[in-house]
Amino acid sequence: MLAILGGSGLTQLANLTETRRISARTAFGEPSGPLTLGRIGGREVVFLARHGDAHGIPPHQVNYRANIQALKDAGATRIASVATVGGIRREFGPGVLVVPHQIIDYTWGRASTFFEGPGAKVTHIDFTEPYSATLRRSILAAAKACGEAVADGGCYGTTQGPRLETAAEIARMERDGADLVGMTGMPEAALAREAGLEYAAIAVVANHAAGKGDSAHAISLVAIETVVEHAMQRVRGILEKLAAS
Ligand code: HPA
Repeated sequence: MLAILGGSGLTQLANLTETRRISARTAFGEPSGPLTLGRIGGREVVFLARHGDAHGIPPHQVNYRANIQALKDAGATRIASVATVGGIRREFGPGVLVVPHQIIDYTWGRASTFFEGPGAKVTHIDFTEPYSATLRRSILAAAKACGEAVADGGCYGTTQGPRLETAAEIARMERDGADLVGMTGMPEAALAREAGLEYAAIAVVANHAAGKGDSAHAISLVAIETVVEHAMQRVRGILEKLAAS
């Protein structure tokens, strides 16, 4: 079953029929909110809003382990994650959709593995390619079928937040090879890999990253909202196509 992890601007999914909501509990605590199960085009889908229904949970306080575990317990085998990001690479301006292929993790202090604690065996996952190649291809194919232009590949630098970055931090990230910056990509992707789930992301560029383009001197948070609202309509279409595929 496909799971959709919605980020800022995607707290629910239209076109989901026969829905039922379940309040899940896991050994790692509670997920960000109730899981919504339903069907899109006859196929079962489960949806979870990463920041909670009321968008009350900041990126560094999301219980990523509970979210991934709850989706797995509900029967998910693949997770399409939606996240808003800032664009570092010049072509990645506001409104651009990207299916990233790499990650750099700048977060700290987050519970980032299932393999710790009493009785847990030390386990190292391979994370050379952090996203599922199969699911990335399916997302790109769904986008193509919708006639939506989506960039294939980009390196997603995950910062701690909730504050946005300084221009110097973005310049450093660019030197590191990051094309996008967001706050929720990790440890989510690694946990999905640990849990044996296919995982890929659709990154929605909301703004130029700090110091870039029209964010040369500041990031306008007002402008972001309009861009995200519009882009999420396109993302919804892609997800509906993906679910039915
Ligand atoms: N930085 C980090 N996360 C973000 C940004 C940004 O500029 N825009 C949207 N999410």
